[in-house]
Amino acid sequence: MKIAFVGKGGSGKTTLSSLFIRHLVTTGAPVVAIDADINQHLGAALGLDESEAARLPAMGEQLPLIKEYLRGTNTRIASAEQMIKTTPPGEGSRLLRVREANPVYDACARPVELEGGAVRLMVTGPFTDADLGVACYHSKTGAVELCLNHLVDGRDEYVVVDMTAGSDSFASGMFTRFDLTFLVAEPTRKGVSVYRQYKEYARDFGVALKVVGNKVQGPDDLDFLREQVGDDLLAALGHSDWVRAMEKGRPPRFEHLEDGNRHALRALHTAVDATHGLRDWKRYTEQMVHFHLKNARSWGNERTGTDLAAQVDPGFVLGEGVVAPV
Ligand SMILES: Nc1ncnc2c1ncn2[C@@H]1O[C@H](COP(=O)(O)OP(=O)(O)OP(=O)(O)O)[C@@H](O)[C@H]1O
Ligand SMILES: [Mg+2]
Repeated sequence: MKIAFVGKGGSGKTTLSSLFIRHLVTTGAPVVAIDADINQHLGAALGLDESEAARLPAMGEQLPLIKEYLRGTNTRIASAEQMIKTTPPGEGSRLLRVREANPVYDACARPVELEGGAVRLMVTGPFTDADLGVACYHSKTGAVELCLNHLVDGRDEYVVVDMTAGSDSFASGMFTRFDLTFLVAEPTRKGVSVYRQYKEYARDFGVALKVVGNKVQGPDDLDFLREQVGDDLLAALGHSDWVRAMEKGRPPRFEHLEDGNRHALRALHTAVDATHGLRDWKRYTEQMVHFHLKNARSWGNERTGTDLAAQVDPGFVLGEGVVAPV
């Protein structure tokens, strides 16, 4: 199950991603955690100290390896250089699974021990000023998109992405890659305005979006959110002393997280699991093709000097049953 946390800067995306990841691990579920936000803080929120977080390999720097691996024996993709972030899988492509060892995880993922279990953590790598506002080609999240487009995940296994609600993810279609997107909103007009913008983009693509209130202090806050987002409000977390203690470097045991907040995390989990039956791999594949063709036309063809539409395998549908070459 693929899940994204998006929202306004500072709304609590990273905090809620990390709490949700901890919650999933306590249920024994396998989890891949991906930090795709401009501000790379997920490692720290999962308890890594600064030097450990700094040593995490950057997915952005492993793009050649990722492309070479995923390309497999797909004859429609002539070389890794001609693979762009939206290049869809086809016959011969290698796919990724949550519970397996593969060269992509070897190069990009590191285990983080948590709550008696462990997650695989992958990070895009820090963004620099030079990354912002330049061509999509250089996008740091390109590696994440490629992985999501080649991932066949099943029930009870989770990929949780801490993400920015930036224009980059709209242009490439990354915002359509999730079974459920959690928009984290504080009960303020600004918090809710990001929701409206997201909803607008999401509308034409059937993106499942739920609002998770954060730093909600009482009935008045809750009423405000309900009034602004209606039924899209799924759950709300309040200020958490547990989170505060963790940020002071003194993480209490997770079972001591406040009842209300634990309850909210369970609601998120239930909502994610409920989307499994609604999955439509055909639509999922069609959407990646749609965004690939769009990116090909707008910059990819020119950049690679080829017609990237030829990379599309018309007969291919991604899905849990697809068998890829070893
Ligand atoms: N429920 C909460 N209880 C206590 N502190 C919280 C809570 N949610 C967020 N915070 C604190 O608010 C600050 C911002 O949260 P966080 O870093 O998760 O936001 P973000 O949306 O990921 O921000 P950015 O856009 O910078 O990535 C952090 O210091 C975090 O600890
Ligand atoms: Mg963050």
